[in-house]
Amino acid sequence: MKALVLSGGAGTRMRPLTHTTAKQLVPVANKPVLFYGLEAIARAGIRDVGIIVGETADEIRDAIGDGSKFGLDVTYIPQAEPLGLAHAVLIAREFLGDDDFVMYLGDNFLVGGISRLVDNFRLERPDAQILLTRVSDPTVFGVAELGASGSVVRLEEKPLHPKSDLAVVGVYLFTPAIHEAVRSITPSLRGELEITHAIQWLIDTRRTVRSTTVSGYWKDTGNVMDMLEVNRTVLETLEPRIEGEVDEESQIIGRVLIEEGARVHRSRVVGPAIIGRSTVISDSYIGAYTSVSEDCRIENSEIEFSIVLRDSSIKGVRRVEASLIGRNVTVTPAPAVPHAHRLVLGDHSTVQISS
Ligand code: TTP
Repeated sequence: MKALVLSGGAGTRMRPLTHTTAKQLVPVANKPVLFYGLEAIARAGIRDVGIIVGETADEIRDAIGDGSKFGLDVTYIPQAEPLGLAHAVLIAREFLGDDDFVMYLGDNFLVGGISRLVDNFRLERPDAQILLTRVSDPTVFGVAELGASGSVVRLEEKPLHPKSDLAVVGVYLFTPAIHEAVRSITPSLRGELEITHAIQWLIDTRRTVRSTTVSGYWKDTGNVMDMLEVNRTVLETLEPRIEGEVDEESQIIGRVLIEEGARVHRSRVVGPAIIGRSTVISDSYIGAYTSVSEDCRIENSEIEFSIVLRDSSIKGVRRVEASLIGRNVTVTPAPAVPHAHRLVLGDHSTVQISS
């Protein structure tokens, strides 16, 4: 069994973060979302992984290397243009050979891994197995209609009138039957070879397509609340550990990971929370569901349910919550009560100020 991980694409939809143009490298609990997928693949006992790369190939290669740090053997497969998920399967034909494979979308997050799914698939070997999850707005997903026996009878891409609330999750299991399917379909109205069409082709040609419904699924939408939510979910499963330094005047409560070289002085950290490498927290309160990346400084401040990326500082700010703070950001209080606000805001910022 092999894995095909899709990390191509144009790399333009990363607002409000600009340090990475690869959406697969957005950090969740201080780790790129793509790493969780690769770790799940390794845990399922798969070694050979093909990674589809596009415009952001250099960033992805820098982050993953040859895959050995994940226990994987990685082959990069360049895709000149993001012509669709089924197109990615088409160009990976040589790498995939006649093996069964897991296809994993690199910007998707699935709690609980894929080991059980892979084991079941190996035993039962339907032609394809898809995962479904219940969503509140199916119109922005591929949507499945199930028959009486629970088998998949129809897939529709972003339907105006969805037949169910079961969205297709970005993790698929395929036998080599999918290769004939991706060769048989034509591009959709948006000009892409759609994997939903390829799976529909399998259904129409009477192959077995099974589904399993899962929970704990997240897909990057570029939406800050979604990022905070997935961050919260991952922090809840964190292994608490103190690798850095915590002085006697500080309190660490609950599920907290203080990474190597981090220092916590005269502060309270209430988990689930993670404090990144070489970050210094002093005279502050770090509340639940907060990820602070490496090389940050938080002084005389309170922060909760937030993500702070590397090299940023927050000083003398009474309360920060439900916030996403990018790299190299400085947050300080305005001097006294301002008569006028002085703002330096990047493109596409959203700011709420009391006036
Ligand atoms: P998306 O562009 O999110 O693909 P989608 O068809 O699920 O998106 P939507 O319908 O919401 O526009 O890409 C999912 C992942 O697959 C992402 O990591 C980028 C990667 N990808 C490729 O590698 N090659 C491709 O041709 C496409 C379309 C996506």
